[in-house]
Amino acid sequence: VRTLKVALLGCGNVGAQVARILIDDAEALAARSGARLELSGIAVRNVDTPRDVELPRELFTTDADTLVKDADLVIELMGGIEPARSLILTAIQNGACVVTGNKALLAQDGPTLYEEADKAGVQLSYEAAVAGAIPILRPIRDSLSGDRITRVLGIVNGTTNFILDQMDSTGAQFADALAEAQRLGYAEADPTADVEGHDAAAKAAILASLSFHTRFSLDDVYCEGITKVSAEDIASAKEAGFVIKLLAIAEKIDSSDLGSGISVRVHPTLLPREHPLAAVRGAFNAVFIEAENAGELMFYGQGAGGTPTASAVLGDLVSAARRLVLGGPGRTETTTGHVPALTIDASNTSYYIGLDVA
Ligand code: HSE
Repeated sequence: VRTLKVALLGCGNVGAQVARILIDDAEALAARSGARLELSGIAVRNVDTPRDVELPRELFTTDADTLVKDADLVIELMGGIEPARSLILTAIQNGACVVTGNKALLAQDGPTLYEEADKAGVQLSYEAAVAGAIPILRPIRDSLSGDRITRVLGIVNGTTNFILDQMDSTGAQFADALAEAQRLGYAEADPTADVEGHDAAAKAAILASLSFHTRFSLDDVYCEGITKVSAEDIASAKEAGFVIKLLAIAEKIDSSDLGSGISVRVHPTLLPREHPLAAVRGAFNAVFIEAENAGELMFYGQGAGGTPTASAVLGDLVSAARRLVLGGPGRTETTTGHVPALTIDASNTSYYIGLDVA
């Protein structure tokens, strides 16, 4: 059996679980990949940082560059723009397939990276970047590639869904619900990217690009977070039969006022309580898709956390390994269309789904 060398960059919550599963489940992963997936090293900033998972010390290195140059498959879970971007480019140029969960990097520089991967004939996959464990990108790219998606609505940030759900079920104010989210370890120490909607906006750009075969970056996404949502807003919504959710929305618009194109936006949205997304409680994520032929689809699950997100990373890894074994990379780039991005200031349509309801 062929052996493929796997380099892991980053060993936070997700990275540590990926390493553990690669070691503990090596036999099953080899059977499914058609190749032995050998974890050749883990690049970290400091080898002495204590980790939640016990991993062989000799795997750790601070020399990410050398590790990447010697790998068949590279998993990037460092986050941030640099050095993640340069390391991914080095991996691609060396002919390695890359798996990443780096939504911020993809929302900023995805198109360049996808193009480089296609030029080099290697696969770049990123299922873990949107909605953690939920298999959503591959279904959009592959299963729905013969259909036409018209709208995507996503609860793609667990922290804000938890906060809004707390406010809805207990009547708490935003600050108290945020404190509870922090106490339970959902929110980051600095929760700005969550509560201001930036994390959801990065995911919206990725979802919209794949769904509408067009390149959307963070600049195309209108973004409004949940910091101004009050307990009173939630109570009035409730009384009228609605729940307030922070949604990532990407939809086709064809209107005489706004023009035609794709609107990509993140804002608090009034959802009828009977909508399937209204039932998504706590820190869970879900993505609701409307397509011309398939109709309505919903994908639900854990959008964060070490082990759930590791599941998505390993799925991408096995899939990339299979393609390497079979000798074909497959295409990464599916964003070949040219539908214009409609940058709509949604503040006047806030709290509504779609523009027709406003
Ligand atoms: N902070 C994110 C969330 C983690 O709350 O969903 C996953 O990207």
